[in-house]
Amino acid sequence: MSRAKRKIDHIHHAIQTGQHRLHGLDDIQFVHNSLPDKSVKDVQLNTKIGELSLSSPIFINAMTGGGGLETEEINRSLARVSSACNLAMAVGSQMAAIKNEEEEKTYRVVRQENPTGIILANLGSEATVDQAKRAVDMLEANGMQIHLNVIQELVMPEGDRDFTGALKRIEQIVNALDVPVIAKEVGFGMSAAAATKLKEVGVSIIDVGGYGGTNFSKIENERRENHFHFFNDWGISTAASLAEVSQSVGGISIIGSGGIQTAMDVAKSLALGASATGLAGRLLSVLMDSGIEAVIEEVLELHEELRFIMVALGTGSISELQQVPLVITGKTYDWLCQRPVS
Ligand code: FNR
Repeated sequence: MSRAKRKIDHIHHAIQTGQHRLHGLDDIQFVHNSLPDKSVKDVQLNTKIGELSLSSPIFINAMTGGGGLETEEINRSLARVSSACNLAMAVGSQMAAIKNEEEEKTYRVVRQENPTGIILANLGSEATVDQAKRAVDMLEANGMQIHLNVIQELVMPEGDRDFTGALKRIEQIVNALDVPVIAKEVGFGMSAAAATKLKEVGVSIIDVGGYGGTNFSKIENERRENHFHFFNDWGISTAASLAEVSQSVGGISIIGSGGIQTAMDVAKSLALGASATGLAGRLLSVLMDSGIEAVIEEVLELHEELRFIMVALGTGSISELQQVPLVITGKTYDWLCQRPVS
């Protein structure tokens, strides 16, 4: 099957399978504050991940890549949303364009539509330094996402079977690029141990990409006969991953992603220690169902609702929101009880 066809298949399957609330964020409760002493008009949503300043803690996470006209159209649409709402945006894996220059236009359209915004390049951990430099140059990108997708590769019959050397390659990319590198999971969550290793090789931003939203094991399994169902429930939930990485790994910026749909999901992720949240499947679903204007409307609503939640908690900034008390219950509590905090 061609890479382009596979990507389009992903899009349609992701929309159908990725919108369940399995991310563990429903285990997190805020403690109501009757005296918030704050005004909605004073709430600031700007934040920082590593050295990158974002005007919103919500960004469009990596989706689609190298899929010809349809993915070019989706990239253009998402870039219009990112420009209209002043959101950062990551593109999907650029490996198709690294291997075939004709595909470059399906990515460059993002920079054309959003000439001044924060755009993140994207490649997998198999990428070389040279490929990473080309991916950044292609978009004049402000940062480079390196995705870690071991489970997706294992589930695909044509996927990788050798995962040696990834950390070394990431270290070389970190040292060679003059933009920050974001190491990201793609829906199976990041452990504190993995995050620590990435930090030790110089990664300054980690996207936990937790279990509970888009599920590439389910997506790949549904498309073929030889099912690897045992990976369908595999992974660290977004809530558990955020909690363990933020408790154990200092000195990095954390991104919360994996099943984020609502302003409450965003607020809880930030309160668990994230500095920003990435939305993929949810925004793609709205785009495919209802178009660009609906996605813009959705983002505006998310921002307004987030401001209301922040005021109710007595917080006027993302850094204040990161400090509010939380009560953690259910599976997320059980997970954290059994995980050492170093
Ligand atoms: C993705 N995702 C992804 N990630 C990445 O780093 N490179 C990629 O090329 C892609 N491609 C891709 C295609 C489609 C159709 C979807 C829905 C997602 C993964 C994405 O960035 C994110 O990590 C996961 O989807 C989990 O977030 P959500 O979808 O649950 O919000």
